[in-house]
Amino acid sequence: MRLILLGPPGAGKGTQAQRLVRSLGIPQLSTGDMLRKAVAEGTEVGRKAKSVMDAGQLVSDEIVNQIVSARIDEPDCANGFILDGYPRTLVQADAVEKMLSDKGLALDAVIELKVDDEALVDRIAGRYTCAKCGAGYHDTNLKPKTEGVCDQCGSTEFKRRADDRPDTVKARLWSYYKDTAPLIGYYYAKDKLHTVDGMANIEDVTSEIEKIVRSS
Ligand code: AP5
Repeated sequence: MRLILLGPPGAGKGTQAQRLVRSLGIPQLSTGDMLRKAVAEGTEVGRKAKSVMDAGQLVSDEIVNQIVSARIDEPDCANGFILDGYPRTLVQADAVEKMLSDKGLALDAVIELKVDDEALVDRIAGRYTCAKCGAGYHDTNLKPKTEGVCDQCGSTEFKRRADDRPDTVKARLWSYYKDTAPLIGYYYAKDKLHTVDGMANIEDVTSEIEKIVRSS
């Protein structure tokens, strides 16, 4: 199963991808996570990406396409993967088509998570993750079962993202509508698009996605 999760910042792509990893047994390929790792490790890609990400803009197609192309060749992607935050431009969408067709593969489904803009800002402001395993939480919508302790790995350390400041969130939303929203029409025309109400609660969104996965 090869899936794309499409949606604006804070739509729930990462949250749903983590849940689908558990139910489908295929990896989550988040370009945002890969780029943040490169920044933390101070690699050449990370040095190029840092200021762009801090400003809420998009990293170059060339860099991101290379990262994804290398990642989908890894053995854990043999049975499929969930692309989270990629593709994000029409150039990236064409690149992923080519990467897959070169390997004799195709996309199964593209799932668009639709969420109101006001809700996005609230979701991003309250978001934090486990510093050790990356499990995602929210101050009000998704707290750990035991306060201050990660449900997944038991760590007591959490972090918030540098690009979740309100001014940067607006830049990220602008970039979504300008560069990424055209992919909705792109995948509709290819008969791959499924739109899910991302305003529903997290469990209901997962059920809707799982129904689409079963029928794809
Ligand atoms: P990236 O890391 O991909 O960020 P993003 O797309 O802006 O998306 P987010 O991670 O902010 O949101 P999400 O949809 O995953 O929501 P989440 O599940 O966390 O990219 C960061 C940056 O990297 C970009 O700005 C760019 O610079 C660069 N980059 C990355 N990919 C790139 C690419 N392909 N090309 C170029 N540059 C790239 O949910 C948010 C919160 O809401 C959570 O707290 C969650 O608990 C809560 N929540 C989730 N679902 C629900 C629900 N149904 N109801 C209530 N609360 C919910």
